[in-house]
This record gives sequence, C-alpha cells and structure tokens, in this order.
Amino acid sequence: MELPKLTDADFSGKRVIVRADLDIDIGENYRLEALIPTLKYLSSGSSKITIIGHRGRPDGKRVEELRMKPIEEELRKIAEGIEFEVLENLRFSPGEEANDPAYAKELALKGDFFVNEAFASSHRDSASITSLPKFLPHAMGLRFEEEIENLSKVFTDPQKPILFIIGGSKNDKVGYIKDLEPFADIILVGGRLPEYYGDRALESVRDVRQGEKLIIANLVQDKEDITLNSIERFEKEIEKAKTIVLAGPMGKYEEDGHRQGTERIFKAVAAASAFKIIGGGDSLSVLSIYSLKDKFDWISVGGGAMLEFLSKKTLPGIEALK
Ligand code: 3PG
Repeated sequence: MELPKLTDADFSGKRVIVRADLDIDIGENYRLEALIPTLKYLSSGSSKITIIGHRGRPDGKRVEELRMKPIEEELRKIAEGIEFEVLENLRFSPGEEANDPAYAKELALKGDFFVNEAFASSHRDSASITSLPKFLPHAMGLRFEEEIENLSKVFTDPQKPILFIIGGSKNDKVGYIKDLEPFADIILVGGRLPEYYGDRALESVRDVRQGEKLIIANLVQDKEDITLNSIERFEKEIEKAKTIVLAGPMGKYEEDGHRQGTERIFKAVAAASAFKIIGGGDSLSVLSIYSLKDKFDWISVGGGAMLEFLSKKTLPGIEALK
C-alpha cells in the first residue's frame, strides 16, 4: 500500500497539524501512548505541533464533559517535555462530522503540513480525516503505518480458521459483520449487538443450528451480558481458531454483576495459541483491568476502524492520503 510516510517527509521547522485519537476514557492511555513516537519524531525536527481530535459524539454542540482539556493534561503527563498545543474537541463544530470543506480549510490555516495519526477515527468521513489532506502536504503517522502493517497480516495469508468476536455497544458495528462474512470462518457476536439485530437475530440463530458461520449470543434478562450457554459456545470456537480478532466487550463490564461474559471470553482468547489481534477503546480498558496486554500479537487503537479496515482493506482516511 503506497502511502506517504512521515519518515520521507520534509516537515522540519514547519507548523505541523497532527490528527490524533483522543477519544479515550481518562486513565486508559493506550491511544495517547501510541501517539508519542510521532510527536517525538516531529519535535526532533523542531516543528511547531498542533494536535487535533474528537471526543465522544457531541453532535456539533459544545458539551462541557467532552472538552479536550483533561485529555491534553493526560497527554502532557506522558509526553516528556514535547511542546504542542491541543485544539478543542473538533466535534463541537458541526463542520467536522458534516465534512464541510470550509471548516477543513479553516483548520488547514493552522499548519503547513498534515499528519494523520488517527487510525481509530479513519473510518469516518470527517473534515479532519478526509478533507484536511486535500489542503496540505501530508503523511501518515508512525503508528498509523504500524497499524496497517500488523492488521494486514489477518488477510495476507492468515492461519485458518479465522475467528472474529465482535461486541461492544456501538450499533454501527453490525454493518461490519456482514462485510466480514465472506472472509471470516466464524463470527461470534456479543455485547449489545444481538439487540440491534432485531428479528434478523432469530434468523441467524436458526442458521447457526444449521452450521452457519455466524453465532449470535443470547443475552441475560437485563441484556447487559451474554448467557452462560453463549459463553461456553464461544469458548469452544476460541479453542479451535488459529487467527482471532477480538473487538469489543461482551457486556457491561464496568458493572460487577455484568462482567462474566467479558472476563471469560477475553481470558479465553488471551490463553489461546492463535495469532491474536484486539482493538477498540473499551477492549483496551478490559485488557487493563485483567492485565492481559502482553497476551496479544497486536493491540490496535481502532475499534470500528479496525473492523472496517479488515473487511474492506482500506479506510476513507487511507484513501485521502493517497
Ligand atoms: C472510536 O473510539 O472508535 C473512534 O474515536 C471513533 O469514534 P466514533 O465511533 O464516535 O466515530
């Protein structure tokens, strides 16, 4: 994949805008740590760095609890003397998600060079992801490059069977399940996603009985976890897999009574001898809770972005850099 690399770019002394993944829970700093090598590299060329990103889904309005200040403070703690400024949450402006070219142009005025270091947001056709590179010379960030390299291993000569486990609470993940079907051997679906299937869930469960590749978990009565039967069914599939992609928790792992599915499935994957990839904001939090970070071959910063990249082999943010 021919994309402009930061290591080939001339940014020295320039004002560089870095689109970063700042959509994190305070205290879960994996996405911020992933940003540090690019910041270090840029500051070695004495560039003036402006970091931009989004937090949550404020829908074009200013939402106090989604301000960027606390994220900036976290980043300064781990960025060891690197100088940068962080702009306010881009999604406070309606132009960001509407991909308004005028808004992108306004952002572009703040820099001479653009770096996309926001792999986890590059499935979004937003102004800072797909329009900004039209107005400035650009490159992908160091982590972005590593994401492509490592995730590509899943579709370049993978060990089979390939198992996907998809959970979490964002309903747009259901769309990826369909795209992954031709390529995956088994897809296990948990978290809130079985709810979003509606009637289609029943159909798929019937398919499973006929040996189809899609297995949708049953949920416990309050819908906040998968049932014990589903956990056991999933564990059997995990044992057989040679490549595993895990994207999202199986329930409301933040609450004591709803942790079982997530804990058992994450631990089962961690113990499996397969090639293992995991990604997404909530998955990262779960890895921290159970100290499982060193059990995976690659931890992607992306959740939805990882799944979209694996199913389409590209992302809007990648196309925009070409
Ligand atoms: C993520 O956390 O997956 C990214 O920040 C994208 O967030 P979004 O699903 O709100 O676009």
